[in-house]
Amino acid sequence: MNHFEFREGELHCEDVPLSRIAEAVGTPVYVYSSATLERHFLVLAEAMARAGLKGEEGGPVLIAYAVKANPNLSVLATLARLGAGADTVSEGEIRRALAAGVPATRIVFSGVGKQAGEIAFALDAGISEINVESEPEMRLVSQVAQRVGRPARIAFRVNPDVVAGGHAKISTGGAEDKFGVSFSEAERLYAEAGSDPWLEPMGLTCHIGSQISALAPMEAAFRRMRELVERLRARGLSVRRLDLGGGLGVPYFNQPEPPSPADYAAMVARVTDGLGIGLAFEPGRLIAANAGVLLAQVLHIHERPEGRRFVVLDAAMNDLIRPAMYDAYHDLRPVHPRTGALSAFDVVGPVCETSDTFTRDRDLPPLEAGDLVAFMSAGAYGASMASEYNSRLLVPEVLVRGSNWALVRPRPTYEDMLSREAMPPWLD
Ligand code: LLP
Repeated sequence: MNHFEFREGELHCEDVPLSRIAEAVGTPVYVYSSATLERHFLVLAEAMARAGLKGEEGGPVLIAYAVKANPNLSVLATLARLGAGADTVSEGEIRRALAAGVPATRIVFSGVGKQAGEIAFALDAGISEINVESEPEMRLVSQVAQRVGRPARIAFRVNPDVVAGGHAKISTGGAEDKFGVSFSEAERLYAEAGSDPWLEPMGLTCHIGSQISALAPMEAAFRRMRELVERLRARGLSVRRLDLGGGLGVPYFNQPEPPSPADYAAMVARVTDGLGIGLAFEPGRLIAANAGVLLAQVLHIHERPEGRRFVVLDAAMNDLIRPAMYDAYHDLRPVHPRTGALSAFDVVGPVCETSDTFTRDRDLPPLEAGDLVAFMSAGAYGASMASEYNSRLLVPEVLVRGSNWALVRPRPTYEDMLSREAMPPWLD
């Protein structure tokens, strides 16, 4: 469920008509709903509590929101106030989470190529868990921990060799993928880490892919993780936390309906029954995707006499890259739908390459230059993957709460853009 609805013929975000934001900020612009962000987090937290899932020391599970999905500070702060933790993959993301008020004890640090400086920063900040993805990385974490004088709490990211996810480019759990250690490595390294005074192995983690629309592959992966916990414990090793990653899909219009948070939680309860372990999760898309839209304006309707009809928008692939990169489907709604029959349009942006096509042959109501349109389900991996390609200004972001709204990342000026660069002395 989300809080983007038509009222009196106009698409609103909560109580704010989208045209009001377009008028004040210009387009393209991302618009997020606080109520939807909060609802998604709370539905998941409640489903987990109802299924009897527990975190460490019997408290609530750790829901470490995957910052990469939408790292806007105001989005993070909205979730932090509900008790969310943060799954981070860089020093920048850790800094964002801390700045937004996420306690260090709820931050986990993932990623296959953490650098020494980033690890030192994470240890100094006292974050909860470093997810180690390979043997050389384990050695690096130990060296850095010794240098900064703080033992590192680590979890091993295990590659469960289960392929899942909405697209090959966002599937991460296969043995051929770069992520995590194999089961045999995990057993050996966990024991080794246990005898390193600078490492405190406390758990295991896995993340098999994103936009997963069936429980079966996740269940298979989680069962294998449970077996590994039991094998390690049988060797006398302590395994206190199992971080099951993110990946649960969301209902993109026209796509297979993903499992509900309640069904997901019930499956996890089934798999971890009696294990007595603290659970953690890293959802990103589930929380943010349907909490945001990309608002754009129609620049031209270009009808070729030979047949194709293009809607040229002021938003482009640099603002929302998912269709170009993953052939992703985003529902497109006119903000003030005109009456009339649907007909097929290709919807494109102004960037100079063919992949700057949001959709082809999409049936849409009549559109005219100047109309506002909204790409739905764009709150996750939208603004966070935006760039300045074609020297287009980075897309701004707005957060709505009830009838209030705020510009939470302004559109830079052209002066801002140019002033970030410097000429070498020989060209000055
Ligand atoms: N944990 C780890 C270790 C991850 O790598 C990811 C996402 C997540 C959690 C969150 O996954 P989620 O719950 O959002 O599925 N840019 C792509 C998605 C890439 C996902 C990368 N990892 C897209 O636009 O579809």
